[in-house]
Amino acid sequence: MSILRSRTDPRWVEAALSDLDRTLGDHVHCEKKASATALKLIADHPERTAQVRALAKLAQEESQHFLAVLVELQRRGAPLPPDEGDPYAQQLMKLVRNGPERMLDRLLVGALIEARSCERLVMLGPALPDERLRELFARLAQSEEGHERLFVELAAAAFGDERTQARLAELAEEEARVVAALPLLPRIH
Ligand SMILES: [Fe+2]
Ligand SMILES: [Fe+2]
Repeated sequence: MSILRSRTDPRWVEAALSDLDRTLGDHVHCEKKASATALKLIADHPERTAQVRALAKLAQEESQHFLAVLVELQRRGAPLPPDEGDPYAQQLMKLVRNGPERMLDRLLVGALIEARSCERLVMLGPALPDERLRELFARLAQSEEGHERLFVELAAAAFGDERTQARLAELAEEEARVVAALPLLPRIH
């Protein structure tokens, strides 16, 4: 079961399809940033052996997603657009506290971004215009669901189940508020 506290407005699918090249261009950058974020967590906490291993695998998977979506974008004859930035992720990162709980928050924000991405890949996948893209999105959605679980598990391993669930409940409320305030655009978030 997803950790999200809200469902995406179904009209987002229409917005995403209205300029699919732009949506896929944004998606490429999301995958790139997901890989970079995992590598940054490794760099910041090299002493956490099990976490480093799990995040190295995650970074590799996100890097594979990055390439797979890039290939589809280029098959459509579309160039990779510049990275427009991600106001959704930026607002969530502002919720990350400093001090000893910083890593807890970073892991849980990671879990929420994975969960929202997974929800949207599941929504958009069946509406895509060709079979290759539909299959890719189904595969990616499954992988992002695993990443959502992994981030929550890493948080619980480091901070305990009770603290993790309590903070996750707070951040999930905030995430729903952030999503509700953002416009529906041809982007993943
Ligand atoms: Fe991914
Ligand atoms: Fe992911």
